[in-house]
Amino acid sequence: MAQVLLKKQGTIAIISVDRPEALNALSRSIIDEMDDLVEEVMKDRDIRCLILHSKKNFAAGADIKKMIECNEQEARAFLFSPTYNKIADLSIPVIAAIEGYALGGGMELAMTADIRIAGEGAKMGFPEVTLGIMPGAGGTVRVPRIIGEARAKELIFTGDVITAERAEAMGLVNRVTADDQVFDEAMKLAKKLAKRAPIALAAAKATIRSGQEEPDQNKSIDIEAANWAKLFTTEDQKEGMRAFLEKRKPAFQNK
Ligand code: HXC
Repeated sequence: MAQVLLKKQGTIAIISVDRPEALNALSRSIIDEMDDLVEEVMKDRDIRCLILHSKKNFAAGADIKKMIECNEQEARAFLFSPTYNKIADLSIPVIAAIEGYALGGGMELAMTADIRIAGEGAKMGFPEVTLGIMPGAGGTVRVPRIIGEARAKELIFTGDVITAERAEAMGLVNRVTADDQVFDEAMKLAKKLAKRAPIALAAAKATIRSGQEEPDQNKSIDIEAANWAKLFTTEDQKEGMRAFLEKRKPAFQNK
């Protein structure tokens, strides 16, 4: 039976892990299923936003029972990075809606999103060092880029599991809502993003990413200028500006 589900609500896609008996701990087969669903999302030009959301618990990390006997080679094969990179590389915005535990590889999945919304009872962290390992699915790379090196080191070195309130204060999540509102808040935001010009949004996402990765600031500003000007080749730029002048809502065509 499927342990990862893909649903569509209009132009919004939702990927959920469904393994409640293990707090949605992530096995190799779960990640393989997720990979296929991410490929589906990539191919569907109607989808404007992806929400990562699992009921009750986002994911309590990689499956420790499956990892314990791994040798080095098996540990490499177990890793989730190719799938996580695919999610992070999606041109559409990705929102992680976090309820309950998001730990280790589960939190690394949330870090592939552009925006994280957490329930007030969510518990997040990177407990890998308490197990004799370290984050291995992008955590050591994405976490410092998102919250800064010193905060990332404190989280990863201590393995502390932190509250949603603390996660918000350090920028690990964008905002906190009531636990029963997490998905609705994510959907509200997704619907808002789905109304924006998709090519412009994708260009902004790619330009922010390249700016984060390129150490030369002026080079990044040149890239921004080129990407900005390129948007003037789109029909949506004409539509957006025309709609403003005509005092109506734009009808973007993804062209
Ligand atoms: C396998 C897990 C699991 C996990 C929970 N379960 N987390 N199984 N791998 N990561 C299982 C438990 O074994 C148990 O199954 C059931 O889920 C319920 O969990 P409990 O521990 O009984 O629940 P609770 O007492 O409420 O404690 C919740 C918890 C704890 C604090 C989240 O389960 C926990 O500490 N889990 C491990 C968290 C963790 O260390 N994650 C990082 C993994 S390393 P049974 O059969 O006993 O009922 C990692 C590396 C990623 O993610 C690297 C990239 C691939």
